Amino acid sequence: MPPSSPRLTRRSLGCAILGLLPLGLLSRSRPAEAQRPKTPSDPAKRRPTRGDHLTPLEGEGRGTAIRLDDLEPGAAPLLVVPLEPDSGVIRDGSRLNQLRLLRLAESSLSQETARYAASGVVAYSAVCSHTGCPVSEWNAETLRLVCPCHGSEFDPAARATVKNGPAPRRLAVLPLREEAGVIVVRSGFRGKVGFSLG
Ligand code: FES
Repeated sequence: MPPSSPRLTRRSLGCAILGLLPLGLLSRSRPAEAQRPKTPSDPAKRRPTRGDHLTPLEGEGRGTAIRLDDLEPGAAPLLVVPLEPDSGVIRDGSRLNQLRLLRLAESSLSQETARYAASGVVAYSAVCSHTGCPVSEWNAETLRLVCPCHGSEFDPAARATVKNGPAPRRLAVLPLREEAGVIVVRSGFRGKVGFSLG
């Protein structure tokens, strides 16, 4: 009996092709439900939530809710993270929760920015949309947020629109409100937080 020649049936061919597909392509073909990020069980890693307060990431005042009076119009932004007011949990378990918080003259805000602001106070993601560096610098003359890695500049009065540099899109904004003088998160981020390559 002649040795059986290797033959590719439709099924084995399909398996062979699937085996060669990169994981990324496979995951892209999953239903949207399966791709939805899970809410982390650790409250310190959870994204900012409606009703959260904001607190400095480090240093003096960490753990204390930031109040409107703490912010001088036009002053350099603070680096802050959400604070769950009842439990006192500081949501600093993910870098994606870090925010640049600043106060601007209300008259300088674009219509869109004003919708997300509380008495001129705005909060933007501190993660650059280019390759994820911290947006850590402030140009006090132009009133722009600056990412030192490749020089991207964002205009906080215009919903963090990119004004300079390679960043492909504006920073995510966190809607705020004021309650008895305290800055409070009104809802989750608007816009994509972080960056994506390609
Ligand atoms: S990572 Fe911010 S400009 Fe490149």
